[in-house]
Amino acid sequence: MPMDVVTLAQQLGRIVGPANVLTGGAETGPFATDWRKRYFGRALAVVKPGTTAEVSAVVRLCAETGTAIVPQGGNTSLCGAATPDASGTQLVVNLSRMRRIRALDTVNNTVTVEAGCVLASLQAAAAEAERLFPLSLAAEGSCEIGGNLSTNAGGVQVLRYGNMRDLVLGLEVVLPSGELWDGLRGLRKDNTGYDLKHLFIGAEGTLGVITAAVLKLFPKPRAQATAFVAVASPRDALALLTHVQERCGDRLTAFELMSAACVEIVTRHMPGVQTPLDRVHPEHVLLELSDTHAAGGVRELLEGALAEAIERGVALDAAVATSEAQARGLWALRENMTEAQVREGRQVKHDVSVPISRIPEFIDAARAELERAFPGVRVICFGHVGDGNLHYNVAGPASMSEDAFMARMAEVNRIVHDATARHGGSISAEHGLGVYKRAEILRYKSPLEMELMRRIKRALDPHGIMNPGKVL
Ligand code: FAD
Ligand code: MLT
Ligand code: ZN
Repeated sequence: MPMDVVTLAQQLGRIVGPANVLTGGAETGPFATDWRKRYFGRALAVVKPGTTAEVSAVVRLCAETGTAIVPQGGNTSLCGAATPDASGTQLVVNLSRMRRIRALDTVNNTVTVEAGCVLASLQAAAAEAERLFPLSLAAEGSCEIGGNLSTNAGGVQVLRYGNMRDLVLGLEVVLPSGELWDGLRGLRKDNTGYDLKHLFIGAEGTLGVITAAVLKLFPKPRAQATAFVAVASPRDALALLTHVQERCGDRLTAFELMSAACVEIVTRHMPGVQTPLDRVHPEHVLLELSDTHAAGGVRELLEGALAEAIERGVALDAAVATSEAQARGLWALRENMTEAQVREGRQVKHDVSVPISRIPEFIDAARAELERAFPGVRVICFGHVGDGNLHYNVAGPASMSEDAFMARMAEVNRIVHDATARHGGSISAEHGLGVYKRAEILRYKSPLEMELMRRIKRALDPHGIMNPGKVL
């Protein structure tokens, strides 16, 4: 039975210590507002457990009292998945205090880490042990492993190392009943029935609270080469991708597309960020090669491949970084895109994927339909083109007020998502459904697939206390 907030806060305080329970709008407000400031919820309270046993006791109390739980990591979700609704009845369970690295095994090449560990801290710990944890995204200074797992995060190295799902060997999860599932196995081969960990990866907190994980480590690259390359069109970007893959094999670890509009926006809004090329071109690719062999001549390899690409007319121009500082400068163009977009004004964000080969026709088809519906519309398209994943963002025409354009967001979504579906794609490649795409997905997944997801949800969370209002 529901419990009043004072009694609940007292009981939570007994579990985690009173200092780790926040109540009242001023304290809980930041935990109830998303990164882009699009969703303004109201939390019943915020609780910050410090151990798995505490998470388990908190969830058990919620199960007994029918209290809805919103698991939260770094709160960098771009689809409103990590914040409570406006009812004031949902408890935010924030994992940020659980940030320990429990074990690092350089022979098994695994790390056992708690859910609240910030991604950048894990990358640093791996590097200190002469290993690589490859997940890399612009929010890495604040997003946390539990959030990365629960969104099956992607980022800029998926091309070589895969999504978060591909980097996981084991999980520890507190189930909606409060029971603890210890699946912290560090095995690369285990065929003993259903692979349960995959249910929780990408579940956006709707099936349980992840408290720890065993993740894969890789040899640390000793040499990298980074380049910013101008191309005439998305089609040429794909020709460049094929060319570099043929020349450089799996040394290619990142291949990111940025249109002219993206370069203009990021250089206009972000102080110190500039293109190394003499002008803005129709499209640009930021690409990186990594090699575990320090003297492998990776820069020479890249320079050779790019010279050949220019000679063949596949690329228009290229700048190859000659120092780490220059490489960081090139990455700044890409990593500041999300923040620059916020500064540019409100846009309709998309996070789609299509088969890599269909990217050019998708970009053209969606643009033509948007232009028909909103003459003068601005498409701000960038992303992980090497994975077929585009952030196909749309800003209103100059002739239209931002409010008027945003009021027609559903129409914009429909055009982009229908084009995505027609090209065999997915409406969410990495950010997840959250609140933003929860209704939209019903149009694109079959009723049977939706029903299978609901059956899984009911089996694990029969009382529907885990992150209600998200995904399903
Ligand atoms: P949160 O936002 O706190 O939560 C995300 C979801 O996970 C919510 O549904 C939440 O309920 C659930 N959750 C969190 N912790 C747990 C847990 N322990 N157990 C169960 N459920 C949990 N995403 C990409 O994939 N690729 C990118 O390149 C990328 N770039 C980004 C750049 C910027 C600037 C920003 C702001 C975001 C970006 N994102 C990207 C989106 C976001 O950062 C990722 O989805 C990230 O993985 C979320 O981690 P988080 O800790 O912030 O999770
Ligand atoms: C990115 O690739 O930079 C992110 O997924 C964030 C975004 O879409 O803005
Ligand atoms: Zn992305």
